[in-house]
Amino acid sequence: MARFSGKVAVVTGSSNGIGRATAILLASEGAKVTITGRDSERLEETRQAVLKAGVQEANVNSVVADITTSKGQDLIISSTLKKFGQINILINNAGANLPDASGNTRSNCTIENLQKMLQLNLQSVVEMTQKTRPHLGKTRGEIVNISSIGAGPSAQPQSVYYSTAKAALDQYSRCTAIDLISEGIRINVVQPGLVSTGFSTAARGLSADDSLKFYNSMGELPHCIPAGYCGQPEHLASVIAFLADRKASEYIVGQTIIADGGTSLVLGMHSVFGGKK
Ligand SMILES: NC(=O)c1ccc[n+]([C@@H]2O[C@H](COP(=O)([O-])OP(=O)(O)OC[C@H]3O[C@@H](n4cnc5c(N)ncnc54)[C@H](OP(=O)(O)O)[C@@H]3O)[C@@H](O)[C@H]2O)c1
Repeated sequence: MARFSGKVAVVTGSSNGIGRATAILLASEGAKVTITGRDSERLEETRQAVLKAGVQEANVNSVVADITTSKGQDLIISSTLKKFGQINILINNAGANLPDASGNTRSNCTIENLQKMLQLNLQSVVEMTQKTRPHLGKTRGEIVNISSIGAGPSAQPQSVYYSTAKAALDQYSRCTAIDLISEGIRINVVQPGLVSTGFSTAARGLSADDSLKFYNSMGELPHCIPAGYCGQPEHLASVIAFLADRKASEYIVGQTIIADGGTSLVLGMHSVFGGKK
């Protein structure tokens, strides 16, 4: 039997990148999935990719919604329950580092931008957790929150509010994991490093081509990514699926797995000392 057979998963931010790869993986391993994002065309690309992986049309629920709105959150949850009758897995993946009106993402960013970053990267996760809690309690379900190595402990001056929101998300996840495990709900976190997705298009306004060049070039710098290549969405999807799979990871509660090709273990001074002899 497929490992997610009989499970219903909601994957936010699945119209692109890591969320799309996660939805494809969970669905191809037996889950019924709700895919969601604001961009209907990209969401349809995800739906087609899931079907191409051999999943039956009846096992995919596609919902165009803004995760930062109460209406959008309610629609994602109600349509999942209407179509599939239950929720077993919630992947809180939607997130972004968005510049303010002047293109800033550093410490001089506007307060409006701070609020926007907190609303998307923290508050929407809190709200989705609160709203799905009764349903996940019934199924003894799993939540996986997608954070970032930007959460620390190293400084991220190029993305101050985004990184601050992700750090808050990590602590929220730890605290809530302990609260909810008594109801049978398990929460864990994945912190990706650099992953070749639409993230840099949203964060830095790069074209798809320039974004790809950026990720590939970063992968060639061992002092940035020791693994020697930039992460692909599928590398993250398999880690997320591991934490969403109770049989594989049931005794892991409130923990954070870093999947970054070694990036967060490298210090600038290592490049001065050079590679191995
Ligand atoms: N790529 C990286 O290097 C990296 C590194 C660390 C952490 N992460 C984290 O990984 C997660 C996935 O990002 P990604 O790299 O896969 O980037 P991506 O390709 O840009 O995907 C982001 C997804 O989030 C959705 N999203 C953004 N704002 C939304 C909103 N207001 N309402 C609904 N959906 C929204 C987007 O959908 P729509 O645009 O259709 O709304 C898209 O599906 C994020 O939480 C990000 O912070 C990424």
